[in-house]
Amino acid sequence: MARKKILVTGGAGFIGGNFVQYMVNKYPQYDIYNLDLLTYAGDLTKHRNFEQKKNYHFIKVDIADRGKIMSVFKKEKFDYITHFAAESHVDRSITDPEIFVRTNVLGTQVLLDAAKQINIEKFVHVSTDEVYGELDFDPTTFFTEETPLQPNSPYSASKAASDLLVRAYHETYGLPVNITRCSNNYGPFHFPEKLIPLTISRVLNEEMVPVYGDGKNIRDWLHVIDHCAAIDLVLHKGIHGEVYNVGGHNERTNLEVVKTIINTLGKSEELIKFVADRLGHDKRYAIDPSKLENLGWKPTYSFETGIAQTINWYLDNKWWWEQIISGEYKEYFDKQYSLKAKVN
Ligand code: NAD
Ligand code: TYD
Repeated sequence: MARKKILVTGGAGFIGGNFVQYMVNKYPQYDIYNLDLLTYAGDLTKHRNFEQKKNYHFIKVDIADRGKIMSVFKKEKFDYITHFAAESHVDRSITDPEIFVRTNVLGTQVLLDAAKQINIEKFVHVSTDEVYGELDFDPTTFFTEETPLQPNSPYSASKAASDLLVRAYHETYGLPVNITRCSNNYGPFHFPEKLIPLTISRVLNEEMVPVYGDGKNIRDWLHVIDHCAAIDLVLHKGIHGEVYNVGGHNERTNLEVVKTIINTLGKSEELIKFVADRLGHDKRYAIDPSKLENLGWKPTYSFETGIAQTINWYLDNKWWWEQIISGEYKEYFDKQYSLKAKVN
């Protein structure tokens, strides 16, 4: 196979970080370029086991910095771009939407402009099922690629805007793109502001676990390694201009997720604290993955096997998450949840 250059934006974050590791190991004949600003959500310690490898490279740049991005693209002629970099946390988008527009919308547009100037084979834009809005609790309804975009949070609105720009660059300039829309990921190196790693880390420290509203909202959980395999497939086999949904059939209420973690760790359900609901809290997400399955994707984890693997990973890798939950994170947590502690 020919030597290829792959740009992975956001490769110091949760999913991008797992994808970088997956690609570095699977394709020694490819050069993997991790481009990341290293915001609060990005760290390079997660790459310490392979950052010496010859096919791994790191570039610290802001995707919304047009001048710097253009210089990077002048120097390196990438064959593929997988675009993960984003502001990704819904709660943060509710308190501070502006950075979501800058990074997710403007940053994506800058990358599209840069990609347009070189002869790339594929630009994969990693998006979210949240752009479709919410489903009700009828278990027979699912998001398909044809579901209209109806984002409800500033985060999902910024992702929907970026999806539409990616689509427009395909229609207008013929850029070879794919858009993937995945459900909620979980697995190793998940930043502990999101439900699953927040619950695991807090239960291990015997601290209260905040559950929004009545805990009955439903998410469709996708193990990050199954997501990486999906992106790899779409990168190599996706039909230009197509959207692919990733995930499916691992739906759980938030309360079920939290109780599973508490029970697996042998702790008390009294750690659960119901707090004020998230503003505009989407009721349910659920994916119909048929289109991607027809392309050849098959997940390897059920929720049961995936959550067991993930809990074990957090038990074995305290060095990673303990460095995060002190300092700046602590300030974020206290601010976010002191507002919510009023109910109950
Ligand atoms: P994350 O927050 O863990 O990581 C984001 C990464 O992007 C970080 O390394 C951060 O430093 C980097 N970044 C942020 N702003 C940047 C900028 N201006 N320039 C360069 N780098 C910047 O996010 P994640 O959970 O890994 O999500 C990755 C992608 O997948 C995002 O596009 C997100 O919208 C999408 N997604 C995530 C989920 C999920 O469950 N986590 C679900 C659906 C879609
Ligand atoms: P989250 O992990 O933030 O992902 P997303 O908002 O992208 O789905 O939240 C998952 C679900 O868990 C969501 O319904 C909100 C809920 N949640 C809580 O109940 N408590 C929490 O502390 C957090 C962070 C989330």
